[in-house]
Amino acid sequence: MIVQVIIAVIVVLVFHFLWPYILRRGAGYSGSNTKAVIWAFKLIDIKGKKLIDLGCGYGKVLKIAKKMGAHVTGIEIDPIRWFISIIRCRCKVLFGDMFKIDLSNYDVIYLFQWPSVNGKLARKFKKELRKGTYVISYMWEVPGLELVIYNKKLDIYIYKIRS
Ligand SMILES: C[S@@+](CC[C@H](N)C(=O)[O-])C[C@H]1O[C@@H](n2cnc3c(N)ncnc32)[C@H](O)[C@@H]1O
Repeated sequence: MIVQVIIAVIVVLVFHFLWPYILRRGAGYSGSNTKAVIWAFKLIDIKGKKLIDLGCGYGKVLKIAKKMGAHVTGIEIDPIRWFISIIRCRCKVLFGDMFKIDLSNYDVIYLFQWPSVNGKLARKFKKELRKGTYVISYMWEVPGLELVIYNKKLDIYIYKIRS
């Protein structure tokens, strides 16, 4: 009996972290590196800017951005992570699919998705983002956008939409 319970718990946990990827909606869960996030946010000076974290997980990046003076919004497809983000960040967190919202109103787009997802998002960014918007991607590049800087040590990319 105990073995079955342990297996069930493992299956539930794996599904909780990975279901968006398994069902091809986006990345599974893993958290950005705090130092990398702070470095990028300082570099572009997010104070007063409208920032959205696409797939905000448990709200870690939102909390940092809010503390640094940005007007933050998150969007998360997993109901448990969405709920925890709201409690943790006390900010606007949308529940839903990042591919279905309009991004044209933001100054900074933050994401930590996985490579195949970044390819899909790049097409959306090209259609929707206005000139001057920053796109910050942790760990994986966003193909086709103009790179401002890549910090190899912290593994974080900053892009700016030029036209
Ligand atoms: C790698 S985690 C990044 C978490 C957080 N942004 C961070 O950097 O620490 C990716 C998150 O995106 C969420 N996600 C995946 N597909 C999504 C979609 N289509 N819409 C909204 N959120 C999505 C996952 O549930 C997961 O919490």
